[in-house]
Amino acid sequence: MNFFRLTSLSIAVCMMVSCHTTKKTETTSKVTISKPEVIEEIPVSEAVKSKNGVFAPGQEQATAVKEKYPDATLQQLTEGYGIYTGTCTNCHGTKSIYRISEVNWPYIIDDMSMRSRLTASQKEALTKYIFAIKATQPVGK
Ligand code: HEC
Repeated sequence: MNFFRLTSLSIAVCMMVSCHTTKKTETTSKVTISKPEVIEEIPVSEAVKSKNGVFAPGQEQATAVKEKYPDATLQQLTEGYGIYTGTCTNCHGTKSIYRISEVNWPYIIDDMSMRSRLTASQKEALTKYIFAIKATQPVGK
């Protein structure tokens, strides 16, 4: 009697376990593939795309630089970009704007503006351009 009970019990347990296992595999094998959603394309900013921060400034830079230079205009930043990629490349290539810290840039701008014989307004445009780029520099670049 006892033996029979034990056997039927173990059979029941076995069935339960196997049942459970089957259920599990069933659920894991049922992978529902949902229809691909139409994901809106998020434009990648120039600041993210650029490796060295030398690119034509846009509205993103014009807005960001306002914190430091409230009177800066996109036109001025564009003029600075022209100087950076023009006059500033007379002796060397375009140096990375990202690599130099905001603390060090003013010293380099002073030095290099003299070497380039920039006018006061040219130096101002260049300074605003460099700081506009620094203001949108992505973390880790
Ligand atoms: C008359 C030549 C000359 C001109 C024009 C010139 N540079 Fe330089 N610049 C140098 C020399 C020389 C060095 C040091 C050697 C090097 O890094 O190539 C240098 C270095 C630099 C560096 C690296 C500094 C550092 O500490 O790593 C930066 C950034 C730079 N210049 C930016 C500019 C900018 C911006 C302008 C335009 C306003 C400019 N340069 C125009 C000659 C010049």
